[in-house]
Amino acid sequence: MISKRVREMIEEGLSYPLAESSEEKEFTKLCSNENPFGPPSKVINAIKEEAERIGEYPESSSIEVKEAISDYIGVNPLQICVGNGSDEIMDLACKATMNPGDQVLIPIPTFSQYELSCRSNAMVPKFVELDNYRWEAESLLEGLKDSKAAFIGRPNNPTGNSINNEGTKELLSTGKIIIVDEAYVEFSEKTSLVDWIEDYENLIVLRTFSKAFALAGIRIGYGVANREISEALERVRPPFSVNRLAQKAAIAALKTRDFLDRTRDTIFKEKEYLQKKLEKLGFEILPSDANFIMANPTPLGMDAFDICNYLSKQGILIRNLSGFRGAGSNWIRISVGRPEQNKRLIKAIEKIKEG
Ligand SMILES: Cc1ncc(COP(=O)(O)O)c(C=O)c1O
Repeated sequence: MISKRVREMIEEGLSYPLAESSEEKEFTKLCSNENPFGPPSKVINAIKEEAERIGEYPESSSIEVKEAISDYIGVNPLQICVGNGSDEIMDLACKATMNPGDQVLIPIPTFSQYELSCRSNAMVPKFVELDNYRWEAESLLEGLKDSKAAFIGRPNNPTGNSINNEGTKELLSTGKIIIVDEAYVEFSEKTSLVDWIEDYENLIVLRTFSKAFALAGIRIGYGVANREISEALERVRPPFSVNRLAQKAAIAALKTRDFLDRTRDTIFKEKEYLQKKLEKLGFEILPSDANFIMANPTPLGMDAFDICNYLSKQGILIRNLSGFRGAGSNWIRISVGRPEQNKRLIKAIEKIKEG
């Protein structure tokens, strides 16, 4: 009764590696790369106002949202497809641009949903391990040779670093479909590639409201590509996948750019604080271009399980990366939180050192 490909996924135990979660308010949640400040009140009010109309179907094409996004990123609304989180756009990109059996390059470690989108749409992932967690175009180009497409996180989750512009151009010049996931671009020093859409018809850029705009719980993201691909994405999208509340929330969020600027400034400062402290405490850390840090606690005599368990008992949740293909069992990922959350984390780790 179940398709061969989904049966194989079940037999392999392949599923999205969920972060340890808790609805407890006192918990310090540094495990999901969310905006630790939550959405501003203007956004909450827009959601409350729209709540009265949830008896009616949403506007199917999210046209108002597209116009607001167009204003934000400077791209024609017809080159934008809005979806139920960027997760949905990943899935639509597989459906709209690939055929069953097509091979897709996935550099690892990376966001697990790329693999799941491919597998559930009958594509075949080809994993290439990042050499020392660094982005070198050479091995990726090799992996692309017999692939139809590639998923590239920029910045990449969980490593936090990014392939540079030159390397990205090399990948795009192959003519293969390059899906660049910019979920964390608002926290990055690197600029978005949405402007490159005019030059590269094989480029699809994924963006989201879940991270910098603090809307992870309401589910809205978008893809940017040339008109032909955008129309194809729309064609395979379920008509009402973006609900009324999400549409209004995104429009309101795009009007609160001061909130975005403040969030960004604080996250930059707090990331620096965490990087310095973690390094001083003996962690190996990777340079980060995002709102999270990939760190290795082995110099402290602990592996990822040990430190995650210890912190969880103290009410602090971070991410154990052992569920991420290609990350091994020694790495953790820490999302940058609010100042008091970061201090709490550092204090708890200092206690380990004190024995
Ligand atoms: C790299 C990356 N892309 C996309 C997403 C998911 O975004 P959305 O909430 O828009 O589906 C995540 C979520 O953690 C992510 O880490």
